[in-house]
Amino acid sequence: LYIGIDLGTSAVKLLLMQADGKIEKVVSKEYPLYFPYPGWSEQKPEDWWNAVVSGLEELLSECDKTQVAGMSFGGQMHGLVILDEKDEVIRPAILWNDSRTTKECNYLNEVIGKETLSHYTANISFTGFTAPKILWVKANEPDNFERIKKIMLPKDYIAYKLSGTFCTDVSDASGMLIFDVKNKCWSKEMLEICGITEDQVAKIYESYEVVGTLKKDLAKKWGLSEQVKIIAGAGDNAAAAVGTGTVGEGRCNISLGTSGTIFISSEQFGVDKNNALHAFAHADGNYHLMGCMLSAASCNKWWMDTIINTKDYAGEQADIKKLGENKIYFLPYLMGERSPLNDPLARGTFIGLTMDTSRADMTQAVLEGVAFAIRDSFEVAKDLGIPIERSKICGGGAKSPLWKKMIANILNIKIDVIESEEGPGYGGAILAAVGCGEYASVEEAATKLVKVVETVEPTPELVTKYEESYQKFKKIYPAVKELFPLIV
Ligand code: XUL
Repeated sequence: LYIGIDLGTSAVKLLLMQADGKIEKVVSKEYPLYFPYPGWSEQKPEDWWNAVVSGLEELLSECDKTQVAGMSFGGQMHGLVILDEKDEVIRPAILWNDSRTTKECNYLNEVIGKETLSHYTANISFTGFTAPKILWVKANEPDNFERIKKIMLPKDYIAYKLSGTFCTDVSDASGMLIFDVKNKCWSKEMLEICGITEDQVAKIYESYEVVGTLKKDLAKKWGLSEQVKIIAGAGDNAAAAVGTGTVGEGRCNISLGTSGTIFISSEQFGVDKNNALHAFAHADGNYHLMGCMLSAASCNKWWMDTIINTKDYAGEQADIKKLGENKIYFLPYLMGERSPLNDPLARGTFIGLTMDTSRADMTQAVLEGVAFAIRDSFEVAKDLGIPIERSKICGGGAKSPLWKKMIANILNIKIDVIESEEGPGYGGAILAAVGCGEYASVEEAATKLVKVVETVEPTPELVTKYEESYQKFKKIYPAVKELFPLIV
């Protein structure tokens, strides 16, 4: 048996997988997300650990524990976790969707320069990335900065607690902006720019490599073997790509989680010259390009839970009848936006409301706004000459048949639906299986285990209607963008 741990932003999901890929059990444990000031986004690493512990206990409660061979991860990327010399967490983790680092990003992109950054790391700076967070702590919390002994990413904190190994993997390290993606090593120049040294950052592994075994006391407590292997794992997007079979050359996965991403796997290292897409290492040993929007399924969650106050997402979506004819548009920038706008000050916006606008029109606009924003990154990939005819899909939003239909038609591609939408957790379990030698490679495991159960095809009539709508959507952000700095 293999365990995949998906350390997400709203919850940790733990998944128990048999060697043949069958999912035996899934457990989810939520934890709080803190927004102490506008644009800030933090979580407590201790909350993650407590949720992982109680989740693991529940996951293992009915299985044959002697059969558990390995565990691995998919983790929310970019978050800054800092530990002192006693291995205590110094301050809450600063997350991927936190946008407090505008000043540090401007310094990196303008003073160090985008070209230089891209030369050192393959990427430019975005507020969510880790390097500007390190610079922020240095400038704003110098006492905390002085105490830093270890700098970790979220899932690596869990791997450290489980195994005692201070490790990270190439895919997650890629999002730190202190990692030379092409050569898969720390960038000495970037470490220096951030005022840190190599002993403060982790040892780097490929995502499918074993980093250690479960600590003896934990093995005893949970009734597991001391031989249970801990495998490095991957950033949640690379793990999700593994879990949806998006490996090898030119495959695509769309994730509708708290963030929304479009992920394109590649056997060669490549950079988007305009830096709208991230150039990162993949969990299969290769590379990938990725566009990341900061609020995707979270826009729908915000709309349903907070604004219209319902838990019946499907019932609410059942009232949507006018696909491709909505006159209401929604800009989904509730946390600012990363790809391709790179505008931390962008904000959510409804436009086009009239006296006959209904609740269903607005629900529809939220779902469509997210799909249009994914199309923005999709267009960048197309401009790079990457042909995309189909994509896998995963994440909480992928549970909605309507949302999948919208995406198929707005992007005019086929959407291949796989058996489970548990992308990163399933990918984590697959990485564990590869690390334990069950499969020869990530590609072999993903190809054998991931099954497409349905394909959502675009229809010419809806594609035409949505093309017109997208052309209108595209004009809204440039028209209102000047207003955001005035109202933030
Ligand atoms: C990717 C990104 C998000 C988080 C979400 O660059 O910031 O997708 O990984 O967990």
